Amino acid sequence: MKRILVLGSGGQIGSELTMRLREVYGDGNVVATDINPERLTKEIQQTGPTAACDATKAEEIAAIVDKYKIDSIYNLVAILSATAEKNPMLGWNVGMGALLNCLEISREKKCALFTPSSIGAFGDTTPLNGTPQDTIQRPKTIYGVTKVTGELLGDYYYERFGVDARSVRFPGLISNVTPPGGGTTDYAVDIYYAAVKGEDFVCPLKPGTMLDMMYMPDALDAAINLMEADPSKLVHRNSFNITAMHFDPEEIYAEVRKHKPDFKMTYEFDAIRQKIADSWPNWMDDSCAREEWGFAPKYNLQTMTVDMLDKLSKKFGK
Ligand code: NAD
Ligand code: SER
Repeated sequence: MKRILVLGSGGQIGSELTMRLREVYGDGNVVATDINPERLTKEIQQTGPTAACDATKAEEIAAIVDKYKIDSIYNLVAILSATAEKNPMLGWNVGMGALLNCLEISREKKCALFTPSSIGAFGDTTPLNGTPQDTIQRPKTIYGVTKVTGELLGDYYYERFGVDARSVRFPGLISNVTPPGGGTTDYAVDIYYAAVKGEDFVCPLKPGTMLDMMYMPDALDAAINLMEADPSKLVHRNSFNITAMHFDPEEIYAEVRKHKPDFKMTYEFDAIRQKIADSWPNWMDDSCAREEWGFAPKYNLQTMTVDMLDKLSKKFGK
């Protein structure tokens, strides 16, 4: 059985990926860590091992890897796009510091490594419709620069040292356990919270801003399935385009209104987020992920909306 370390377990992805990994590999085999351990959900704290860990400090990661005989690391540590753009050095230092430590420790201690890349690894000179797997990557955000660097380093450590580094380019992720941490795609989560709480929603992106998205259950399956994939089938490694749906604010608003006809959305665009969103793909071609390791998302905008509204209604007693 695998022995797994999750870095950044308190975040939007980590809070759910940790629990899914525990279901698959056993509670005691998945160590949940975060620089802010108080961010770990009660469920995570009560079901398996946890620790405080600053991923920018190599010795803290190495100690946990040794103590728990870890063989696989899921590195979820990053500063998301909009927040990083306000503090670029923080974005670089956290994203690259954590990744380089993970790569070096994986090399020394023979761990497999998963580190997400993002649609943010593309920029406005990339073909934005049907964005190919292998194409121009000249992002103009610090977040994107860290993601492209991370993809290159992942492939370098694989080719040079045999580190089993694998990655996906996640689109915007929509979920209902832990709110997102300052990304450009957060509006597509916030809209559901507003609808369920009976609040009006002010959308920070303009109508017509098309972006790739995915519901969290499909993202968790993607991460685990890629790490379980037969390595002989992988032509690519860092990183695979994956997407489940794409829409603009008008489309998600219309979908929510099918269930909440009184819900109101207005627009007040945020210049930083709008500029970032305009430079990201409208929709990616994810055929390599489908062919090389069987990526197959289950949710679309309609089925995700039903599930999001149901889960959030229960969460807020509405
Ligand atoms: P998040 O911001 O919700 O969570 C990140 C977690 O990392 C937080 O709990 C934070 O406390 C922790 N952290 C920050 N600095 C740390 C440090 N030095 N050491 C240890 N922990 C630290 O992020 P997320 O949305 O869960 O994203 C996880 C990964 O997936 C990131 O690489 C992100 O770029 C990528 N990604 C996310 C999305 C998305 O929509 N959420 C989309 C594409 C890619
Ligand atoms: N959801 C992420 C962001 O907007 C995409 O990488 O930053």
